Amino acid sequence: MSIWRWTDLIDFVPEQARITLGEGQTPLVRSRRIGPSAGLNNLWFKLDFVSPTASYKDRFAAATVSHMVAAGKTRCIATSSGNTGASLAAYCAAAGIQCLIAIVEGAPLGKLQQMLCYGATLYRISGFGADASTTSAVFDLILKWGSEPDAAVQVSSYKYSAPGMTGVETVCFDLAEQVSFSIDHLFCPAGGGGLAVAAARGFRKLVERGVIEKSPAIEVVQPEGNDTMATPLRDGHAQAREVTSTTRISGLQVPTVNDGHWAVTECRATGGSGHVVTDAEVWETQRRLARDEGIFTEPAGAVALAGALRAARERRLAPDAHIICMITGSGFKDPHSVEEAVAATAGAPLVSLEEFARLSDS
Ligand SMILES: Cc1ncc(COP(=O)(O)O)c(C=O)c1O
Repeated sequence: MSIWRWTDLIDFVPEQARITLGEGQTPLVRSRRIGPSAGLNNLWFKLDFVSPTASYKDRFAAATVSHMVAAGKTRCIATSSGNTGASLAAYCAAAGIQCLIAIVEGAPLGKLQQMLCYGATLYRISGFGADASTTSAVFDLILKWGSEPDAAVQVSSYKYSAPGMTGVETVCFDLAEQVSFSIDHLFCPAGGGGLAVAAARGFRKLVERGVIEKSPAIEVVQPEGNDTMATPLRDGHAQAREVTSTTRISGLQVPTVNDGHWAVTECRATGGSGHVVTDAEVWETQRRLARDEGIFTEPAGAVALAGALRAARERRLAPDAHIICMITGSGFKDPHSVEEAVAATAGAPLVSLEEFARLSDS
């Protein structure tokens, strides 16, 4: 079952143009250990990486590549920190569309190999994803190339690819079907802010249709090394800001504003706030998700929970509030972060059968 179940709520695409790989309808599971140990009695995880290319970006790619097919486009020109590129490369492969992707300098190996496997053409650009002026210049070039009639530019943000982003809004429709309670807070990791805006807009549509009474507070979490919108949102400012990105969390290295201004105003309107976490907190949360909950995520996928735990420590969350954290990408995406996570374990030593047998004696 795919995102096309909600065709009346996402931008229209004729049925014959729809490209699906079975995205959407991802699991929602309740925290067994981390929530209770933090004094949060109703903490849930939306496992949005349980998806064809192992990140929530498939919701975007399904919608946007289908729009390209409907419009007769044959070339996709994209920018990505990795997950958007992997999703676009997969859905373009399924649609028979060429895919060229400009990638941020720090993209991890897992994501690069995945894009190459799907047949995409890749360029990693130095400085892209770190400083705002190189990043803006890359966007300008991409927009120029993508203006050819057979091409379309794809960036997973409302600023550049609004019709595709309606696909991301379907995560709210999933959640409305899955819960038997009213959700108080939805914690989202934010790089360019597209996911947070999609969450605010998706729930707004459900309120307008009378499906739910009130939107959850959309809580925006960023690493302190890419704090374009979290602090402005928390401190009552009207707008996001450009930064020099220093975070090592892949996927969240977006120094330009992209959807940040909308994230600030629209998430504030839901009652949500901004939360800033350190990279070290994110890596620790990534490890805890694996060890205490059995959830294998990349660092960006642990950011929402890191933000919720910080908010709990700061007593900004009621103990009985119903809280959902978006877990957005799989652990397989970022092998380096996993190497660091397992460095302190005993590893997997190769032993002979005799040595193995002796273990049972000791
Ligand atoms: C795993 C993961 N989580 C979260 C995000 C952040 O999404 P956004 O840029 O829409 O804020 C990304 C973006 O690439 C991502 O790859």
